[in-house]
Amino acid sequence: MSDIKVAPSILSADFAAMGEAIREIERAGADLVHCDVMDGSFVAPITFGGQMVKNIRKITELPLDVHLMIEHPQTQIKFFADAGADVITVHYEACKKISPCYLKETLELIKSYGVKCGAVINPDTPAECIFDVLDLCDMVLVMSVFPGYGGQKFIPATLENVKKLRAKAHLLDIEIDGGITADNAQTVRQAGANILVAGSAVFGAPDKAAAIAAIRGSV
Ligand code: DX5
Ligand code: ZN
Repeated sequence: MSDIKVAPSILSADFAAMGEAIREIERAGADLVHCDVMDGSFVAPITFGGQMVKNIRKITELPLDVHLMIEHPQTQIKFFADAGADVITVHYEACKKISPCYLKETLELIKSYGVKCGAVINPDTPAECIFDVLDLCDMVLVMSVFPGYGGQKFIPATLENVKKLRAKAHLLDIEIDGGITADNAQTVRQAGANILVAGSAVFGAPDKAAAIAAIRGSV
């Protein structure tokens, strides 16, 4: 773990003006671009696939952080790796439905493309469920809302998962996603998260640079 990073979620951007949205957060000091991929099955909405990531890759140097909220993630890894993702995260809950070793195999598959990998846990999944794959993970993602929609309210009890993971893995990147604002960011950082995803708190702000700096704690 190093500095605190902010990853604006483009789920809250205008999909018809995605290029400008990416350039705007880049100018505003974003550290990563958080790309929320939803399949209409693991979560109800559908967002976008590898083509969007490929097009975004062409217009920014920022690392692309791809959060797969999809069933059967192994079927899609190639597309996102080829599209230029820098890190791909997959849900423990989607993998566990398939087989006990599916999460481990998926993380290994991501790594085989030279892409960083991570496991994601929902608010009602105890951190212990992914302890056995931490050695494989470049990052873990703790959901602080149930996935599917931007603009939901932060669930404070999920900080227990952050604390347990930080106690277990001192140097691991721990990302947190859902309901992060300038008001709760300090508590979240103190719990041990070092990559903070923010959708509505960045894209809904009149001054995106100020919003990102406040979430990072650099003001
Ligand atoms: C939720 C997504 C989040 C979402 C965060 O399913 O994974 O990345 O865009 O949006 P906010 O910050 O508005 O909760
Ligand atoms: Zn996300």
